Amino acid sequence: MFTRSVDPKYGALLAAAVAVLAMPSVALADGYPAQFEFGAPASNQDIAAVAIAIAPDGKGLPAGKGDHAAGKRVYEAKCGDCHGATLQGVPGLPDMPAGAALRLIGGRGTLTTGNPVMTVESYWPYATTLFDYIRRAMPFQSPGSLNADELYAVSAYILAEGNVIDKTMVLDAQTLPRVQMPNRDGFIPDPRPEFFK
Ligand code: HEC
Repeated sequence: MFTRSVDPKYGALLAAAVAVLAMPSVALADGYPAQFEFGAPASNQDIAAVAIAIAPDGKGLPAGKGDHAAGKRVYEAKCGDCHGATLQGVPGLPDMPAGAALRLIGGRGTLTTGNPVMTVESYWPYATTLFDYIRRAMPFQSPGSLNADELYAVSAYILAEGNVIDKTMVLDAQTLPRVQMPNRDGFIPDPRPEFFK
């Protein structure tokens, strides 16, 4: 079935690929089995531990509060090694993305240029997402380890260093959702009207 132009060493590979494609797809045709015979049902506790998403309106935010001054302490102790003293990212860390990917502030107004710099300051539409992201994913090596006060504080630190909020502002469940992010109106609705209905 192969033409003469196929190099024999690729021929074997192609034959293997064809064999895989031609395999009878029993499992797919018959649907998934009712039981896989492994794992365990998720308990309410399992679900509660991961169902921590914060909506843009702040729904789900915990009690607690923090400001730039408290956040600076959290940042210097737990974030600066990777994100840098000026929040621009530390280049050349082993097993880490480039310094530019670790940058948290700056780049405002660059998104529509040929050299967009995407950061929390320049790109993220909701301040609540910052809290949510840090809570579930940072610090990189021990996610979930910050308490609510530390989370509000370090969010305040990042937002104030990016000139999104004033350094005196105290963030909590009421004030955080009211923070207006610079790129809040930079997103356009998905043009496919039927897609998400
Ligand atoms: C060991 C290194 C390390 C430490 C420490 C660390 N981070 Fe990160 N951080 C990362 C990496 C890696 C990413 C993902 C970068 C990517 O995917 O582009 C990231 C991404 C982020 C982002 C999202 C940036 C974006 O624009 O997508 C935020 C916000 C953030 N970290 C905040 C924090 C905070 C706050 C702390 C301290 C509590 C912290 N990080 C500690 C490595 C680290």
